[in-house]
Amino acid sequence: MKHLIAPSLLSADFMNLQRDVEMINRSEADWLHLDIMDGVFVPNISFGFPVLEGLKAVCQKPMDVHLMIVEPQKFIKEVAATGAYMMNVHYEACTHLHRTVAAIKEAGMKAGVTLNPHTPVSLLEDIIQDVDMVLLMSVNPGYGGQKFIEHSVEKTKQLRAMIDRKGLDTLIEIDGGVNLATGKKLLDAGADILVAGSFVFKAPDPLQVIHELKTL
Ligand code: DX5
Ligand code: ZN
Repeated sequence: MKHLIAPSLLSADFMNLQRDVEMINRSEADWLHLDIMDGVFVPNISFGFPVLEGLKAVCQKPMDVHLMIVEPQKFIKEVAATGAYMMNVHYEACTHLHRTVAAIKEAGMKAGVTLNPHTPVSLLEDIIQDVDMVLLMSVNPGYGGQKFIEHSVEKTKQLRAMIDRKGLDTLIEIDGGVNLATGKKLLDAGADILVAGSFVFKAPDPLQVIHELKTL
């Protein structure tokens, strides 16, 4: 599969969200990545469901929602109502992950499970057959513009090996510190989707940067 690019709106200009989403619509990006934070699971607060509701009318790309919140299972209905394509919950935030994954799918969305940098890929051994995507964090979640954690390349390889060994088609998405150099390493290691926030939105020409990521 040709890899996908998911720009993260976290680094967009919040005073001009519509303009930035329309730029994404015109771009070669495949998905729009949306980071929801609660100030509890991560030490920051971003935006919530009313903003996603507003984006729904403008955004023409599938919405890839990344919930950095405690008890994400409480908000499955709300996320589904925004028209989200993918709902990502953190492994570390879900006591009954199997039940949560099933409920996300029942609500009509694809189910993604996210791992923090310290959480080993091996913990997915008994859930990976039920998830559509694994999102590996290559920074500690909470902020855009952080430095890429190099060990994420090794984790991507481990995850690719697990998926191939089991004969699954689970997607691998990587989030944090992605640029052309780290993106290339991740794709070589077996990643399917690259999230990029500051590298896209802080660039003088985001459309060109998306093109460059897409043609890596
Ligand atoms: C971080 C978020 C990321 C963030 C990535 O907690 O999950 O999606 O926007 O930003 P960059 O690409 O700047 O590291
Ligand atoms: Zn994210």
